[in-house]
Amino acid sequence: MAAAARSETAPTAGNQPEATLREATAADLASITRIEQASFPDDPWSPAMLADTVASPDSPVWVVERGTASNVVELLGFAAVLAARGASDADVLTIAVDAAARGLGIGRRLLAALAATARDRGAHQLFLEVRAGNSVARSLYESEGFVVIGTRPRYYQPDGEDAIVMRLDLHRRVEAGTAEATAPHAADGDEPANQTVSRLGVSND
Ligand SMILES: CC(C)(COP(=O)(O)OP(=O)(O)OC[C@H]1O[C@@H](n2cnc3c(N)ncnc32)[C@H](O)[C@@H]1OP(=O)(O)O)[C@@H](O)C(=O)NCCC(=O)NCCS
Repeated sequence: MAAAARSETAPTAGNQPEATLREATAADLASITRIEQASFPDDPWSPAMLADTVASPDSPVWVVERGTASNVVELLGFAAVLAARGASDADVLTIAVDAAARGLGIGRRLLAALAATARDRGAHQLFLEVRAGNSVARSLYESEGFVVIGTRPRYYQPDGEDAIVMRLDLHRRVEAGTAEATAPHAADGDEPANQTVSRLGVSND
């Protein structure tokens, strides 16, 4: 991935120190791996997979970081999207926020960055898959305009949890960095043909 070309600073919430959203670089891999392993203890991506994702021009990775009182910069979360330039569909690959920093709006900022990136690259739709029981993530996705378009029964193994497939129509109005869907909801089973392995499962593109 190219060196971080864009960044944006905004308060996370209340009295929290300012947090910065920017594109990831290889220098972030140790922190990304730490958050990955803590967030997905049963099936974390390997450091090599994470490095490949950060390095690929087709999968932009965003991070949120903030400075601490001792002037140390700490990474609070990261997210990646598969969005090849010119492709009509994009896929959320992964999104995770440090457990100590959840509930502050960081996940929403990261997701909005993924949607904006996909749209900037020409995508019309953004897909993801999520465990049926991940109510926090599902609430975030739904509030950002994603709609359920299908279910993969017992997709996640060995526990057999269903995967919920969701889609965001990127042709919509965007206000204050937050997606606002204006398109009608898709009918169940309205899934595209190809599959791409992602953190959230196997997304279609
Ligand atoms: C899912 C995740 C990325 C959300 O990040 P976050 O920074 O905590 O989320 P935000 O603070 O931006 O909250 C966004 C929305 O998520 C939902 N949410 C957040 N925390 C929640 C909680 N404790 N209970 C229920 N809903 C919650 C709410 O809808 C919230 O919107 P609101 O603040 O307007 O109510 C984070 O919980 C995480 O890293 N989880 C572990 C990894 C994971 O499951 N990733 C998703 C894989 S599909």
